[in-house]
Amino acid sequence: SKYVKGVQYLVENGVMQIPDVYAQPPHQRVDATKFESSNEIPVVDLAGLQDDSRSGVLAEIKNACERWGFFQVINHGVPVPVIERMMDVARRFHELPTEEKMAYYSAYQSESPSRSHRFQTIYNAEKQTVLEWRDSLDQKCYPPPEDDKWLKNPIDYRDAAMDYSGEVRKLAKLLLAVMSEGLNLSSDALEKALGDEFGQNFLINYYPPCPNPELVLGVNSHSDPGALTVLLQDEIGGLQVFNEGNWFDVKPLANALVINVADELEVLSNGIYKSVAHRAIRRVGDVARISIASFCNPTWEAKMGPIAELTKTNPPLYKEHLFRDFIRHFRSRYYDGKGCLDNFR
Ligand code: SIN
Ligand code: FE2
Repeated sequence: SKYVKGVQYLVENGVMQIPDVYAQPPHQRVDATKFESSNEIPVVDLAGLQDDSRSGVLAEIKNACERWGFFQVINHGVPVPVIERMMDVARRFHELPTEEKMAYYSAYQSESPSRSHRFQTIYNAEKQTVLEWRDSLDQKCYPPPEDDKWLKNPIDYRDAAMDYSGEVRKLAKLLLAVMSEGLNLSSDALEKALGDEFGQNFLINYYPPCPNPELVLGVNSHSDPGALTVLLQDEIGGLQVFNEGNWFDVKPLANALVINVADELEVLSNGIYKSVAHRAIRRVGDVARISIASFCNPTWEAKMGPIAELTKTNPPLYKEHLFRDFIRHFRSRYYDGKGCLDNFR
């Protein structure tokens, strides 16, 4: 496709009108001027896990996983300087000259396992008829890539990414323990179910300003395939979550992290925790938006299915499968809402 160089390339070259291939069909278009700031998606203060409000915090998280599949956390333990440095290298990567980014380009379908990072501008060239207004960098974080497999530019990228992903991993382990308790399981149940040391990667999304924001989507509606996602977003906003027929904005909150239940956590919990469709829109405005989605995934060979204790009173809602096969199916299509999960019921 002539659009492999991505959307930042178009913007740098002064695009005045989006190419047709980025225009969503009418029913997918959004009001790019409105910000329906909703305070309904729960914000959970994790500081309370340390004191006598612990049981209240556990209940808030359990409720959020059941009702929304989404919540934000504050006092999450990831140091602000680590977050700021990560955001800084993320921005500097996407603002590199196009030729430098293209050296890291690889199509999703041809991903080779030896690669630790991949610049991605088109999700699935074969299955997708409308393109998204986003450029991304996909980075493996765990198991950690060997020293010579990191991006060389920005020069401080590796240190920032290692620090940030290590902190996110600690937070993810804490959340998996709390979520296990919410299912009346032992606190190590969910982490153990992900196999021996869960996998981790992040996707740095860059959504440049768009001349026709009402025609595009940054990311089409999808649910994440893994177990748990930890999302860092800047102050611009655009992430929306689907709930009972409506889209809700996830309001940017300085230094907060957005947590969402992904498909395999819904499977493990036998449907108690909900993986939820979400998307990113591009609003009117002249600055780029950045988000960094950290995915915590079962190992490839981990056997997925409802945890046995949760099928005693309710029959299992999902078929047993390997995470490898789930991902294979996920990648074989263009995402649309929670469609992948339907194949494993
Ligand atoms: C995603 O879920 O893939 C991205 C979400 C965002 O940019 O906020
Ligand atoms: Fe996502």
